[in-house]
Amino acid sequence: MKEISITTHFNAFDVIEDLPIDVQDLMAKAIKVRKNAYAPYSKFRVGVAILLDNGEVVLGSNQENAAYPSGLCAERVAIFYAGANYPQANILKMAITAASDSNQTTAPIPPCGSCRQSIAEYEIRQETPIEIYFMGEVGVIYKSESLKNLLPFMFDKKFL
Ligand code: THU
Repeated sequence: MKEISITTHFNAFDVIEDLPIDVQDLMAKAIKVRKNAYAPYSKFRVGVAILLDNGEVVLGSNQENAAYPSGLCAERVAIFYAGANYPQANILKMAITAASDSNQTTAPIPPCGSCRQSIAEYEIRQETPIEIYFMGEVGVIYKSESLKNLLPFMFDKKFL
């Protein structure tokens, strides 16, 4: 038996003003669109802004449903919109922010497992990394240089 270790890493920015200027703008758009979340059940609002290599910015927020599993996370709302409307464009960066109506989120809030898997599909398809920045309502912002840091042992088409 041998042990296998996988190392992953992130960068942390203390405040939004420390981010590169284009990412500050992207995060501001994610914060704004977070208000559009339809989250009557969880009261947890997620906003996402995606920068494409054609200059377009695609936005998304979580959309819930009385039949809970029929709802969709903000990350997938945004990335599926990008794939559906700009299939030739590469995704450069994603900014994610989440806030709760019941308590202030201060920790960086990462995309859920299903969203990581969905983002992975697009990163593999375009063969270039997607930078992912994520935060709560306030506080530190984490940066992942690639989706691979968030999903290091991923399932993808090479196993099919
Ligand atoms: N949610 C997202 O939009 N993204 C995630 O990565 C995690 C969770 C949404 C789904 C649901 O509407 C609410 O947050 C609570 O789980």
